[in-house]
Amino acid sequence: MSSTDVLREVQHIPIEGRSPLRFYDYAPDTGSFAEDARAGLSAVPKTLPAKYFYDARGSALFDDICRVPAYYPTRTELEIMQVHAGDMALAVGAEVLVVEYGSGSSLKTTRLLDALANPAAYVPVDISREHLLNAARRLARAYPSLPVLPVCADYTAPFNVPEVPAKRCVAYYPGSTIGNFEPASAKAFLREMRAVVGQHGAALIGVDLQKDPAVLQAAYDDEAGVTAAFNKNILHRMARELGAAVNPEAFTHEARYNAEEGRMEMHLVSDEAQTIQIGEEAFALAAGESIHTENSYKYTLQGFAALAGEAGWTVADVWTDEQAYFSVQYLT
Ligand code: AVI
Repeated sequence: MSSTDVLREVQHIPIEGRSPLRFYDYAPDTGSFAEDARAGLSAVPKTLPAKYFYDARGSALFDDICRVPAYYPTRTELEIMQVHAGDMALAVGAEVLVVEYGSGSSLKTTRLLDALANPAAYVPVDISREHLLNAARRLARAYPSLPVLPVCADYTAPFNVPEVPAKRCVAYYPGSTIGNFEPASAKAFLREMRAVVGQHGAALIGVDLQKDPAVLQAAYDDEAGVTAAFNKNILHRMARELGAAVNPEAFTHEARYNAEEGRMEMHLVSDEAQTIQIGEEAFALAAGESIHTENSYKYTLQGFAALAGEAGWTVADVWTDEQAYFSVQYLT
């Protein structure tokens, strides 16, 4: 049984000028950075899990990435929401319960909520309690009559949606974070999402699309070096939190397009022969050796429809921008 199966606490969080937030805390297991770093640095080839990018510094750097002109996904998805949120609202119908996978502090969420007819409630789900509650408070203040029910859980594991009378439950998963899963895990995750929203449920998912590799390269290796700083932060975090002896400046950020797999990859390439020391253990790197830190899969419309289909969903509608860089897909 996963830790998210056990509801640890329901709290009422007061908010001035409106009813309190009902906060559901599943006390999710956030993993052990020390164990995962040791395992990843012992693997061949070396890896580090991308989930460890997002400490406070990494999250701030990711926010900076979203503002980098070459990083098209955020602004393109926002533009799609701006133009098509009305059509999305018509597709999902009135009085829906929106379950957002992630803490939903973004403008995309408000575009959707603004367009929906009389939404029954909004349930943001996030593993980071602090992120979740800050975002939920902001949203609750902006929508004083909307019931906001934050759930602290690992949304990749099963969790229960609070019971709220609604015409249907709709999962909202913007940002193309689905692209950071391996396709087999993405399929399993989408299958799980079907169970979460129930029989008549639906999903709206942001999915980044295949495009000219030069556009991808520029997005994942921006000139200002923001993505490089984001990638290297995982090494800085290792030093800060694990007391590791590591010199992040002796690594080079590399973004590589892997055409065979249809994905962007991020690597930290060792500039010289060196070691990373964590506690008693030393991990040797040769000059030019890489630590693979992230995959970001880009789909074709057909490819994503096939994946969703294998997970039991039907793609009922797709909205894209003019260049077809990004898509928001409606699954039923
Ligand atoms: C969070 N995720 C969708 C981002 C992406 O584009 O895969 C993470 C990221 N990595 C480098 N830049 C942004």
